[in-house]
Order: sequence, then structure tokens, then C-alpha cells
Amino acid sequence: MAPASPLPAPLGLLAELTHRCPLACPYCSNPLALEGRADELSTDHWARVFREAAEMGVLQIHLSGGEPASRRDLVEIAAAAHEAGLYTNLITSAIGLDAARLERLAADGLDHVQLSIQDVEPDSSDRIAGYRGAHARKLAFAERVVGLGMALTINAVIHRANIGRVTALVELAASLGAGRVEVAHAQYHGWALRNRNALMPTREQVYRAMDEVEQLRPRYAGRLAIDLVVPDYYANQPKPCMGGWARRSLNVTPSGRVLPCHAAETIPGLEFWSVRDRPLAEIWARSPAFQAFRGTDWMPEPCRSCDRREIDFGGCRCQALALTGNAAATDPACALSPHHALMLELAGQGSAGSPTEYAYRGRAREDEVIPTPAH
Ligand code: SF4
Ligand code: FES
Repeated sequence: MAPASPLPAPLGLLAELTHRCPLACPYCSNPLALEGRADELSTDHWARVFREAAEMGVLQIHLSGGEPASRRDLVEIAAAAHEAGLYTNLITSAIGLDAARLERLAADGLDHVQLSIQDVEPDSSDRIAGYRGAHARKLAFAERVVGLGMALTINAVIHRANIGRVTALVELAASLGAGRVEVAHAQYHGWALRNRNALMPTREQVYRAMDEVEQLRPRYAGRLAIDLVVPDYYANQPKPCMGGWARRSLNVTPSGRVLPCHAAETIPGLEFWSVRDRPLAEIWARSPAFQAFRGTDWMPEPCRSCDRREIDFGGCRCQALALTGNAAATDPACALSPHHALMLELAGQGSAGSPTEYAYRGRAREDEVIPTPAH
């Protein structure tokens, strides 16, 4: 049901240019069923989406994937976002982006680069990414980004294999010249949900890592912003996932389906509209999927009468579905959820498990798969 107040404009649009990727990270947020190249939107489609987004009031475009560099027309797509007047951010693994292409991106108006780093130890980093030699290429890439004068953020996804090296990851980001580092614990959707038992750290590890970040902040104040995303499984209050469903941002899949969040397609019964068929503004305002959980009218108790309902918007719909079977339930990360104990139990089971092989995200080259190390 539509909210009573006027519909705010989205601030950001995540453009999933492709699901193709040379890496195979076991916590990838892409869906288990990846979309194929034949279904991808064209350069012209994306240019139209960016123009419409700018007209709606969107300020930032995040070019993502998969690996966006797997698109041969990445430079043209980024230029189209820039021409539409949007702050343009590239989220990349660096693989497939050589110096010449990066220079063209910088010349054509790319504003910001977010580079994923899997670990500080090259062997572990490559093992997590499922790609030999990736780590060394990332370090060289970061140097080129900074050399071209672009803003750099390091994305470090934290899980059981690297949680003991949070300080070293932040130090690495600083040494690369990043202005920001995101220390983001894996969020259990998509491939991460499938790999939950191989990725889940213990409660003690999580609290130690959070302490480390707090100690690092004053050391890097004014030089390196450190963002921390804590894991829901050890929380008592949920995050306002996506800033609230259909409230601040939207995702466009490689084939053009418009989603309120990257995992929304896991929710059965939602109807997603496509930019191939309708203008973006109409989708934002009227798409059944966006209307499903917008605002607070859909909420059950305890959210309905809770004074945090317009702060966290009941948490994450996709997590509620994954853990309770009901996307309209209170997120089990909330201590008031009747399912909160289940979440703690699952966290304990996962973190206590013996070392498990990763189920690597869908990939093309089996010879690059490297087994998970013992912990
Ligand atoms: Fe948030 Fe609902 Fe929990 Fe209140 S009951 S804190 S609104 S998830
Ligand atoms: Fe879908 Fe949180 S990932 S609402």
C-alpha cells in the first residue's frame, strides 16, 4: 500500500551491468540463478535508464555486476552516466580493467572506484576469490586509480577466513591511498546464504573485530574513513536494509528488471517490472514489487506498534523470508522477533562447524577453483 506522505525520490541506483565475473567469491550477492549475456541490456538501454534516473532526482549511479569490466562497452556506459549528470561510481574486482581502459574511464568522467580486496595475504585472498593472481592485480590497479586522481574506496568483506586480519586490511587500504574502507561483514543472502556455515565467524571474533575498528578510527581520523557493517546474526536490532524498502534506492538487473534490493527476487509472488517495458519513474512509483513493503502499513506486530518502525523499517525482508519463510515477518535480527533465538542458534551452528568447502559462485573455469583452507 502506498504511504500517505509524498513519494521521495530515490538517491541511488545500482546498475548490475552483467552477472558475468572472472572471480567466484562464495559470499557474492548475485542470485544463485545468474542472468546470461544474451539477456543483458544494451548500451542505449543503460543510457536511457541513467537519463530517466537523473530526471527523477537520483544523484549517484553505482556500476556493478558481476564484474562490470566484463562488459566491453563499460567506458561508454560510464560516460552515459556522467553525461546524465550523475555521480558515477564503479564497483569492481579490477580483473579485466587494464591501464588503458581505466584511463579512458577517468577521462570520460568516472568519479569514484570501489575495489574489493579479499584478504591481505595473497594466497588466502586468491583462494577466497577463486582466482589465482587476483590479489597482485588488485594492488597494481589501486595504485593506478589513485595515480589518475580518482577517489578510491576499498571494500573488504569480512568472514571466518579473514576476520583475524581486520587491522591489517585497514592498514592495507591506507597504504593504497584509499579515502575510505568498508569493513563489511558478509550479509547472508545469495551465495553467502548458501555458504553460511563456511563463512560464519564466532561471536568472540566479531566483537574483537569491532573493537579493532574502534581503535583504528582515531589513528586514521582525517585520512581514512572506516565504515563498519556488523553481522546481523549477532545483533539485537536490525539494520534498515536499503534504508527502507523502496525508499532510497533501486537496483536494475542485467536484463532490466527493477528490484527494491539485490535479493528481492528470492521473495515468491512479487511482480517486478522491467525498464524494457516502462519508464523508471513509473516503476518506482507503481511497481507491485516496490509497493509490497513500502512504508509501514504492511507491518505485523511487534513492528506495527514499535517506536523504531520508521528507523529500521522492520529490518530486511529477504532475511525474514530466508529464516522464517515469511517475507512480511519481523527480521529475526530483532530481539523482539519471535524467531530471534533461531538466528542465534544458526550463528552458533555455523561458526562451530568444521572447515567446509566453499560452494563457489557460478563460474566458467573449473581449473581455477582452489579449496578452502582449514581454519
Ligand atoms: Fe525494528 Fe520491528 Fe524490531 Fe521494532 S520490532 S526494532 S520496528 S524490527
Ligand atoms: Fe532484500 Fe534486505 S536484502 S530487503
